[in-house]
Amino acid sequence: MGGRGYSAVIRHPYRMSQQTTDRPDRHYIDGEWTDGEGDETFESENPATGETLRTFHRGTEADVDAALAAAKAAQEEWRDLSYIDRAEYLWDIYHELRERTDELGEIVTKECGKEISEGKADVVEAAHMVEWAAGNARHPHGDVVPSEIGSKDAYMRRKPRGVVGCITPWNFPVAIPFWHMAVSLVEGNTVVWKPAEQTPWCGQIIAEMFEESGIPDGVFNMVQGFGDAGASIVDDPRVDTVLFTGSAEVGQEVARTVAEQPGKLAACEMGGKNAVVISDEADLDTAVHSAVMSSFKTTGQRCVSSERLIVHEEIYDEFKERFVEIAENIAVGDPLAEDTFMGPLVEGEHKEKVLEYNELARSEDVNVLVDRDELDDAEVPDGHEDGHWIGPFVYEADPDADLRCTQEEVFGPHVALMTYSGDIEDAVEIHNDTEYGLAGAIISEDYREINYYRDNAEVGLAYGNLPCIGAEVHLPFGGVNKSGNGYPSGREVIEAVTERTAWTLNNSKDIEMAQGLSADITTDDD
Ligand code: UN1
Repeated sequence: MGGRGYSAVIRHPYRMSQQTTDRPDRHYIDGEWTDGEGDETFESENPATGETLRTFHRGTEADVDAALAAAKAAQEEWRDLSYIDRAEYLWDIYHELRERTDELGEIVTKECGKEISEGKADVVEAAHMVEWAAGNARHPHGDVVPSEIGSKDAYMRRKPRGVVGCITPWNFPVAIPFWHMAVSLVEGNTVVWKPAEQTPWCGQIIAEMFEESGIPDGVFNMVQGFGDAGASIVDDPRVDTVLFTGSAEVGQEVARTVAEQPGKLAACEMGGKNAVVISDEADLDTAVHSAVMSSFKTTGQRCVSSERLIVHEEIYDEFKERFVEIAENIAVGDPLAEDTFMGPLVEGEHKEKVLEYNELARSEDVNVLVDRDELDDAEVPDGHEDGHWIGPFVYEADPDADLRCTQEEVFGPHVALMTYSGDIEDAVEIHNDTEYGLAGAIISEDYREINYYRDNAEVGLAYGNLPCIGAEVHLPFGGVNKSGNGYPSGREVIEAVTERTAWTLNNSKDIEMAQGLSADITTDDD
């Protein structure tokens, strides 16, 4: 049980996450910590300070190969354990996530720059997912189904698909790995996981938790690295299901590659160009509050963040004034400080991308209302000059103008205000005028408008009188159109990592067929 590597001697959880030697952190393959075959390393950086946090070995195709071989070899024995025995390993991790929420929340904040309440919420969300998956081990896993034939019993049962490859993003570096892995494991799959290259420290800690849990060797494997390591997981025929959460471009590539391999499944959740509709029947306090949360929480770096606010012309001026006032003053700062609302962007390259989109919007002749993309020196917290700082960028755009800035996902605090006249049908038409369809919200006091939005908005997650962020793990989480296929997350991940199988048992000595099919065997002698 649980191969022990170099960090296993450091058993106290509060010391586990400290890099105590100059040695780069390793991959966790077949119950062992390993340098892997490659000779390259990479660093994780604190986006608020630019400081290097830790160094990691960069995984190669050969490392993925070793991890997949281990996962494949461990599959049968793991599958043969009972659900409840498998869940026991996860309960250990659940308690650790709960006990270490503050400490791990700080590490999340240091590594991906989300402000501290979000860092902790990430860990809490992970605990909730583990709780759901492990708790579900004691729940029914199929259906007793009626048969057309009185003497037959029919059942729908679930079987693990086998080896699950998990590729996760940096913006929820603890929660999303557990979205993918908790249910996969309890259902009897083994996993090979590649954490995001921006948040390998969080990956290291999760791997340490699995090691500490004593999960059998090869059941859980982690390879640190970049897209090439991820691609090796996606390409390999030993992988039965790929779970991917990340950008639309990569997700489409994953889905394409997997589609060419018979019998393999991919569930991908990608981004969105999400919107909040604010009707003339809206309560304006709720509207402004929801819009600010939707657009600026996590510095706009949630797949569910809103980059479009579609506001009825009757209330537009008042809404605009209030939203702009907050955007001008929203607290950007040290993400470890309790009074910060927006931390930095995750990395320099991403800041470049967001700035380019702001520039694109200017070149598309939008009317810029808030332009804080280059913060004043005074706005940057002391000692944080090398952080990837950015403030809100808010503009007015014509929904009919077919602009790239209102169509393409930016993944930052880049927000278009658009007006509509007429009724809710007109608002929803603008709302749905995007290739994406992940999350959205309607703010209105009129239940007919709310219900119209609920039934016609093309999204996987819809909210009434709330921000379009903040889903709970026991709801399905995923989108339509370019936002994804399948649900590599929340409760519904179970569909991607299990086969539903049909089992029918005859209780009679005679064979009787469904559909009225004759069961008589006739021969030439008859
Ligand atoms: C993401 O947007 O990348 O619904 C994940 C939410 C969180 C998860 C977001 N529970 O906002």
